[in-house]
Amino acid sequence: MIKKPDLTDKATDQRNNPDAVVFAGDGEPQIPQSMVTRITGLLQSDKLQPDTYSIGGSVEMLESRIAKELGMEAAIWMPTGTLANQIALRHHCGTKSRIVLQEQSHIYHDEGDALVKLSGLNAIPLAYGQPYFSVDELRKALKEATSGRVLNPVGAVSIESPVRRQAGQVVPWNEMLSITNLCHEEGIPVHLDAARLYMMSAATGIDVKKYANLFDSVYISLYKYFGAPFGAILAGTDKFIENMFHDRRMFGGGLPSSYLSAALALEGMNGFSGRFNESFNKAKALFEIINKLPGIEIRQFQNGSNIFELLINSNINIDQLIENLLDLDIVIPEPKNDWPVPLIHVNTTILRKSNSEIAEAFSDAIKS
Ligand SMILES: Cc1ncc(COP(=O)(O)O)c(C=O)c1O
Repeated sequence: MIKKPDLTDKATDQRNNPDAVVFAGDGEPQIPQSMVTRITGLLQSDKLQPDTYSIGGSVEMLESRIAKELGMEAAIWMPTGTLANQIALRHHCGTKSRIVLQEQSHIYHDEGDALVKLSGLNAIPLAYGQPYFSVDELRKALKEATSGRVLNPVGAVSIESPVRRQAGQVVPWNEMLSITNLCHEEGIPVHLDAARLYMMSAATGIDVKKYANLFDSVYISLYKYFGAPFGAILAGTDKFIENMFHDRRMFGGGLPSSYLSAALALEGMNGFSGRFNESFNKAKALFEIINKLPGIEIRQFQNGSNIFELLINSNINIDQLIENLLDLDIVIPEPKNDWPVPLIHVNTTILRKSNSEIAEAFSDAIKS
């Protein structure tokens, strides 16, 4: 078991250093100063349009933009992804109570049984410890729900991709297609928790619209890499979204001044796909160079997105490597208990230095 050291002062400083390449997290680290600078810029260009308890202004502009980009009829701003998932699933289920989802999903694992406590919904987790379930596993779960002593049909299916707990691995396109096709055939609404949809699309080359088109509702995060301080968007049909602001308010999620989150996200979305594609291509070329160094390999997952495994020989001390790289303005995440090897995250901070500079830093850090 790998011990997780606390973030050192040096690591914190480097995460806040605008010149550092930070192989941690999905986006650029947001520090108070950059947040204030960006808000000031938005104010000067008249892009801060206030809302009323999350209705109107920049919030509405963001909702329309994302709905259009995803090719969905409508969208609604939510203060968190946790709430977006909760409200989407309770709407889909109506009077039914079963939801099929991945055991490794954020909804099942990281939201404290919220489905049952807040909405009386019973989660049926599939694919224990795995990134995704197959269409056959889903078929079996649907059958079980309608062949017991009490007829208890599934009210909704939820798919998370990329899967946060599984190092960002994605549900492969063909499996996603088969699962969503089955749901449509059976008349069961299917929800996509794609907090990182735009990143997934850059990683797989599949358009966000093509993904969204398979689902009845889609949630995306505004703060993972669009640079908002918080917030989420839930997209679906007009009918689905129409009165959802009542539920949002009921759960305490109609926030005054949501426009701050929305305006920052609108700004962060501009050119994001291009920047992320560039970052991915740069990372691929960089990792090829690094993998020629002795004792180190940065390995891609089979269905990976922006997270890669860092494998090192036993004669290299990981804590020392991290420390040495920090001295050279490169941050790699500390090993975590929930994954056997350190994980390297690709984000747009990779564009801050040339590949030869980064590779040289790795080479020097290993040598010393
Ligand atoms: C896949 C996934 N779904 C949902 C959430 C919840 O989002 P929020 O933190 O906005 O509630 C997260 C957050 O990490 C996530 O990674």
